[in-house]
Amino acid sequence: MATLGVNIDHIANVRQSRKTVEPDPVQFAFLAELGGADSITVHLREDRRHIQDRDIFLLRDTIKTKLNLEMAATEEMLKISKKLLPDYVTLVPEKREEITTEGGLDVKNNKKYLKDYVSRLKSSNIEVSAFIDPVNEQINCSGEVGFDFIELHTGKYADLKGEEQYVELQKIIESTYYAIDLDLIVNAGHGLNYQNVEKIASINNINELNIGHSIVARALAVGLEKAVREMKTLISTN
Ligand code: PXP
Repeated sequence: MATLGVNIDHIANVRQSRKTVEPDPVQFAFLAELGGADSITVHLREDRRHIQDRDIFLLRDTIKTKLNLEMAATEEMLKISKKLLPDYVTLVPEKREEITTEGGLDVKNNKKYLKDYVSRLKSSNIEVSAFIDPVNEQINCSGEVGFDFIELHTGKYADLKGEEQYVELQKIIESTYYAIDLDLIVNAGHGLNYQNVEKIASINNINELNIGHSIVARALAVGLEKAVREMKTLISTN
């Protein structure tokens, strides 16, 4: 059964829209945990558009589950993560102008740089995940670089419909098995919601699903604790 990582960046988005102190993502992490979150994910962006440095250090001190820090593979983020010591880091590509993370990390064309970067994180006992597209070449390179996990990008699956969505789902399933054969632990995420999550959750041996937008959107109607519990039920009954 897959576990559920809840991404709380959107709580910080609301706060930052007024540059004030509420809503506080740290308080909402507590509610997500009460609802059954197995880990809390935050993306500290270079431009600090939502999550702030203060948030990640308070989360480190207060959450009872695991902290997954999403970040770009930069020197600034390396320094911060070595101080923070999250349970794991997920490396993502980051562009200033994007609304959310677009596309996976290009491990294949940055192998040398990433190998060194990952080993510097691992020397602080931080496990490292690569957010990648479901493409065998990227999976092979992730194994060679020394990542512990991969997170398969489900954004395309979420955007497609009908036959095209089915084809993308098969790609994610095959990629999962391919990566597990290489001893990688496989997570998945992006664009997953209450309608499309079950097919991904039912893939054998998928480790964790990382979900943000749909849970925070649902939370506006029913509260975060209940929104997380509903998602957790969908995941765990598959
Ligand atoms: N995984 C990664 C690597 C992401 O960048 C994001 C978005 O921040 C998510 C999962 C969650 O995506 P969504 O908000 O669409 O559920």
